[in-house]
Amino acid sequence: MALKSFIAAAAVVALPRVNADFQQACAALASQLTIRDTTVSSTSFVAAGTNLTFPTVDPTCETPFQVVSSDVCRVVLTLVTSNRSSTIMEAWLPSNWTGRFLSTGNGGIGGCIQYTDLDYASSLGFATTGSNNGHSGQNGTLFLNNIEVVRDFAWRSLLTSAVVGKQITNDFYGKPHTKSYYLGCSTGGRQGWKMAQEFPDLFDGIVAGSPALAFDNLTSWSGMFFPIIANAGPDGYPPPPLWGAVDTELLKQCDGIDGAVDGIIEDPSLCNFRPEALICPSANSSSCLTPKQAATVRAIFEPLFADGSLVYPRLQFGPGLVAAVFEIYSQSQFLFTDNWFRFAVFNDPAFNTSVLTPDEISFAWNLNPGDVNTWSGDLSKFRNRGAKILHYHGQQDQIITSANSNRYYDFVSQTMRLPHTSLDEFYRFFRISGMEHCGGGQGATFIGNVEASVASLDPDENVLTAMVRWIEEGVAPETITGTAFVNQTQALGVDFKRAHCRYPYRNVNTGTGDFKDPATWKCIL
Ligand SMILES: *[C@@H]1O[C@H](CO)[C@@H](O)[C@H](O)[C@H]1NC(C)=O
Ligand SMILES: *[C@@H]1O[C@H](CO)[C@@H](O)[C@H](O)[C@H]1NC(C)=O
Ligand SMILES: *[C@@H]1O[C@H](CO)[C@@H](O)[C@H](O)[C@H]1NC(C)=O
Ligand SMILES: *[C@@H]1O[C@H](CO)[C@@H](O)[C@H](O)[C@H]1NC(C)=O
Ligand SMILES: *[C@@H]1O[C@H](CO)[C@@H](O)[C@H](O)[C@H]1NC(C)=O
Ligand SMILES: *[C@@H]1O[C@H](CO)[C@@H](O)[C@H](O)[C@H]1NC(C)=O
Ligand SMILES: *[C@@H]1O[C@H](CO)[C@@H](O)[C@H](O)[C@H]1NC(C)=O
Ligand SMILES: *[C@@H]1O[C@H](CO)[C@@H](O)[C@H](O)[C@H]1NC(C)=O
Repeated sequence: MALKSFIAAAAVVALPRVNADFQQACAALASQLTIRDTTVSSTSFVAAGTNLTFPTVDPTCETPFQVVSSDVCRVVLTLVTSNRSSTIMEAWLPSNWTGRFLSTGNGGIGGCIQYTDLDYASSLGFATTGSNNGHSGQNGTLFLNNIEVVRDFAWRSLLTSAVVGKQITNDFYGKPHTKSYYLGCSTGGRQGWKMAQEFPDLFDGIVAGSPALAFDNLTSWSGMFFPIIANAGPDGYPPPPLWGAVDTELLKQCDGIDGAVDGIIEDPSLCNFRPEALICPSANSSSCLTPKQAATVRAIFEPLFADGSLVYPRLQFGPGLVAAVFEIYSQSQFLFTDNWFRFAVFNDPAFNTSVLTPDEISFAWNLNPGDVNTWSGDLSKFRNRGAKILHYHGQQDQIITSANSNRYYDFVSQTMRLPHTSLDEFYRFFRISGMEHCGGGQGATFIGNVEASVASLDPDENVLTAMVRWIEEGVAPETITGTAFVNQTQALGVDFKRAHCRYPYRNVNTGTGDFKDPATWKCIL
């Protein structure tokens, strides 16, 4: 129902070419496309409900199939991006085209077309594109001695595929798109920001989540956990049964700051967790830490510095994060850090990444391979042409600390010398409490940023339709209302909804009773 009304809200453009059947038009498209430096592999009609499989896609992408939600013309092509690099891209052109164009992003250090994003946006009537970002697979081996592949990853694959995608859209429907959009999270969030910073004409509306900003420093920070844990020694390693005790203590110290003791911390920057409170006063206990274990927990939540300068802010405080850190980072050096330093920074497969020195960290930042860092605070060109960006970040992110998004917002504010009331005109940043990396978590995390997290298409509750409304109707999102389902399971029904505030506002509970009632929450400065 909601989907239909969203599509109906925009004039659905007539099918391509007078009387031409959509399927035939799709089949014929291959011979009609004449785009420089591209090779069309296939154009094929895919009926709604089809289970598409991707046998040739790298298994590390973990995208073996995608059930397609709406009728689309699927175009697969290869774009030459330099004399030693290329990118594989797809365009999914829906029969119910709204006139809008949308590019999707990538994740990690891949290498992987995000088919769920293609499906999500095309089912909402966007002519949608995605690419493999210049190399296949969720690893960085192809960066080795090939800066062109690194450049594709950093910005060029998205730029090129969006330009080509707009052309294909025009060729297929016989008219240009009306507005162009971007949707991405994590590396995809960074890609969206890169376009806002460097290619401000490309998209009218950008939705950029949990962004991997200051990318070289982020990979250094991700590389910090493994040596902390490896060097903790058996007596400094808190055993798994104690992780829950750490969460309990953390919540005891910080959960009530927002006025609701609900297991969700609205503003982790106000929390100053002291793990030392859990040190055993005397004897051995299953609910307390040794001084060495407390020091390990403290180290996990420290910012990373190199020779006195801040490299990356600390992991935000929140429940579940100690367990996440031990689970994600303790076995070996984090894959993205390891591959980035070996193949993109040092071009040396034998380089040992287990402990990164301050010199190596600074070297990577200054080298900035492929111009990947994505840390410009001047968005004047983007603002001046009327483009908008919606930035969001989960406040329990275990992969990219959300503290860096606060820092970036502040950096833009300082660089452009604008107060938040002025940034609000084109840049809004929403802190999604209780949300993990790009989704999941016990908060009201269903905000429509990905297909798996759609509770509603109402622009008040969906970051993508909110962006469309902002661009096309001039109605900016004041808050984004997320939905939490019972046991995080949609089929079990709605548990509660909560309106997430835009930075620098923070959410506080003003009631005395039911924190599940959205009316008891208020955004304050
Ligand atoms: C789609 O096909 C794949 C491969 O045959 C299969 O593993 C998967 O379960 C199918 N998915 C659905 C939803 O039918
Ligand atoms: C196109 O949209 C209409 C409603 O606007 C819907 O009834 C129809 O099922 C859609 N068709 C496809 C193929 O998605
Ligand atoms: C590839 O392109 C680069 C930069 O445009 C140029 O310097 C180089 O000579 C070219 N290499 C070959 C083999 O054509
Ligand atoms: C990295 O990706 C490439 C290309 O997909 C693949 O051939 C290779 O096996 C992968 N390497 C590792 C270590 O996973
Ligand atoms: C603490 O108690 C556990 C279980 O009784 C035991 O395995 C461990 O060795 C004790 N640790 C210390 C430091 O006494
Ligand atoms: C990498 O360095 C660490 C610490 O310096 C060392 O423990 C480890 O054995 C080294 N790994 C390899 C493969 O040499
Ligand atoms: C990245 O780290 C270097 C230190 O190696 C620091 O000089 C630089 O300011 C950092 N960049 C950001 C955006 O924090
Ligand atoms: C939710 O999960 C809890 C804990 O696992 C369980 O006790 C409860 O029955 C679940 N509720 C529903 C509605 O499934």
